[in-house]
Amino acid sequence: MSAGFHQLGGERITGTLVLSVFTAVLGSLQFGYNIGVINAPQKIIEAEYNSTWTHRYSEPIPEATLTSLWSLSVAIFSIGGMFSSFSVGVVSEWLGRRKAMLINNLLAFIGGGLMGMSKISRSFEMMILGRFIIGAYCGLASGLVPMYVGEISPTNLRGALGTLHQLAIVTGILIAQILGLESLLGSEELWPVLLGITVIPTVLQMALLPFCPESPRFLYIVRCQEHHAKSGLRRLTGRVDVSEDLAEMKEEKRRMDMERKVSIAELFRSPLYRQPIIIAILLQLSQQLSGVNAIFYYSTSIFQKAGVESPVYATIGAGVVNCAFTVVSLFLVERMGRRTLHMLGLAGMCVCAIVMTIALNLLEGVPWMSYVSMLAIFGFVGFFEVGPGPIPWFFVAELFSQGPRPAAMAVAGCSNWTANFIIGMGFQYIANLCGPYVFLIFAALLLFFLLFTFFRVPETRGKTFDQISANFHRHQPNMMDMDMETELGKTSTELEYLGADGS
Ligand code: GLC
Repeated sequence: MSAGFHQLGGERITGTLVLSVFTAVLGSLQFGYNIGVINAPQKIIEAEYNSTWTHRYSEPIPEATLTSLWSLSVAIFSIGGMFSSFSVGVVSEWLGRRKAMLINNLLAFIGGGLMGMSKISRSFEMMILGRFIIGAYCGLASGLVPMYVGEISPTNLRGALGTLHQLAIVTGILIAQILGLESLLGSEELWPVLLGITVIPTVLQMALLPFCPESPRFLYIVRCQEHHAKSGLRRLTGRVDVSEDLAEMKEEKRRMDMERKVSIAELFRSPLYRQPIIIAILLQLSQQLSGVNAIFYYSTSIFQKAGVESPVYATIGAGVVNCAFTVVSLFLVERMGRRTLHMLGLAGMCVCAIVMTIALNLLEGVPWMSYVSMLAIFGFVGFFEVGPGPIPWFFVAELFSQGPRPAAMAVAGCSNWTANFIIGMGFQYIANLCGPYVFLIFAALLLFFLLFTFFRVPETRGKTFDQISANFHRHQPNMMDMDMETELGKTSTELEYLGADGS
């Protein structure tokens, strides 16, 4: 085996595959960075808003106005994401996956530039607009990256490589948490640098993308460019003979040619797609309504309320746990399957949410309960990354064949960002209302999503895109059979798959 080639899961990992996945997930890194970057420097940036206001109107900013401006600066990021994620389908079909990622970088430049220059320009409007535009960048990246990575990965590594999207997100969050420390870039003078350096991965991605092949599935199935698809496949697989891969795509293309073009409305109207799109949306909701971003947006105040001594360092601790467990998932996802890991994660989060509630309630009488809450929060984050963090992102790309995939990614992405916005805006109000019981709401939601996954979500590990969608097609007349008809502990869906494999 030549240098630079490795064997994993029986499949060669070529330099081109590594480069392409690495380059794509630089977009995910920025997504994570911009989620995490706003938490630590809140007070310092608020002080800047106040000084700008005073400079303009010769009076200090009213408290309520400052709160509104800050909430807007935080939440407008998800609004940008909501809008742009909805256009993922159109953009990725029109420009192709690779060019779409390349051009998306313009948004990162504009967004990063506006935020970085907002202090010198004494303009919180620039900061807010910058957050909106960087949110729009992240919304597109959150669809384009899993789509591209899913399409270029060999079947038996699709889950592991798909998890790298989430690994890059959590790495971005952690880098932002660390750089946001006051002793590093989270200071009065340097916070514009903290927000502006999001353009560094942008530059790197722009430099590397020209060396990555366009998705061969896109080239062949959508653009009918067999020659280009073949040469991309050769580079990605390291094999000269790619006839097997091509045959599989041909089969998918044959099916697709028989279908009409799938619009977003069609996804809901057609009984063929209704079941997978509902699964896709609910998986995204299970990720966001699990409450994880309540921790990532408001960890400092949550740790404070839990009696933890250094909340900023506890936040970084949560970031480290977050990264570590994503790596765990990376190694387990091709062995244990998506369904099992997702359920394990949801169940673990549910238990941790209950433990956290009990600990918060006992805190007054039993001081060491602060440690229990901290561990419960770490456990909550750790279980999130075992399944609900990484899996929904790449699972949508797996559930759909080439035709409906872009529209499905758009719908799923938009559901994710909308739920993200709702938690970001609503958590503090609900927390004020429910006090220490707030995490019980998440526990109830987690239980619901756990049951949904158990009854409705199929396993996709090791299946080609064509087998996965064929399963839904075949199952379509009596989809409700996907219930818990078990035989030897397998769901009817898995039994179908076994049938499809002939094994
Ligand atoms: C997922 C979510 C994101 C969250 C992150 C936490 O990527 O989509 O909203 O902040 O995980 O690790």
